[in-house]
Amino acid sequence: MAKQLVVGNWKLHGSIGQIKSVLGEIAQAKLQSNVGVCVPFPYLMLAKQLLHNTHVQCGAQDLSQYHIGAYTGEVSSGMLADIGCEMVIIGHSERRRLFGETTEQAGVKMRAALDAGLFGIYCVGESAEQRREGRAEEVVAAQLQVLQQLPIGLFAVAYEPSWAVGSGMVASSEQISPMHALIKSQLDERVKVLYGGSVKSNNAESILAVQHVDGVLVGGAALSAFEFVEICKAAR
Ligand code: G3P
Repeated sequence: MAKQLVVGNWKLHGSIGQIKSVLGEIAQAKLQSNVGVCVPFPYLMLAKQLLHNTHVQCGAQDLSQYHIGAYTGEVSSGMLADIGCEMVIIGHSERRRLFGETTEQAGVKMRAALDAGLFGIYCVGESAEQRREGRAEEVVAAQLQVLQQLPIGLFAVAYEPSWAVGSGMVASSEQISPMHALIKSQLDERVKVLYGGSVKSNNAESILAVQHVDGVLVGGAALSAFEFVEICKAAR
């Protein structure tokens, strides 16, 4: 099985029909790679059923920092584990930018995820402005602070510069490789670091060949079974 990890992030997309058709096709592909799909909450149990008997894991895109109680609208790590969910994306740039999620909150969510036995995918990355100002490394280093006490091996970090997300502008290998090296040097050499931002079937192979890249986090292209399967096949 490939060591590199490919995870699809469906974001706010999908319907019962679309989940059945795309995940049904992915199930048929009999992928031998290390793969996960993170679908919206209402479709998690359906995704589990469709991917039953495959190596593909199911994940959520967020969870609550609270475990139980009067927190209307929240979904806890325990609930996700209870339905068989295996992984969760935390601290995505869209959660930070559009919903005001802080690094501290993302850190609490990571602890909640790991305590419930979920594999955490913690997102970091700078904005276009922060990169222009030469602050990309400083921003990412600050976002990593909350991971310092967490057990290595139970989570991955996804480097997703927000200017590369959904824009068609892929970060270059000269931008990706040193940032991944910095993340590993700040945490541990063994931590898996994924790249995210406009990964498609036609660029996956070259991105996955970049030094220090342990996988990819895929947005738009994860909605097409053909695209996603091709990306998974490029994993080494
Ligand atoms: O989490 C994955 C994502 O933010 C990247 O999105 O559409 O650029 O692949 P996309």
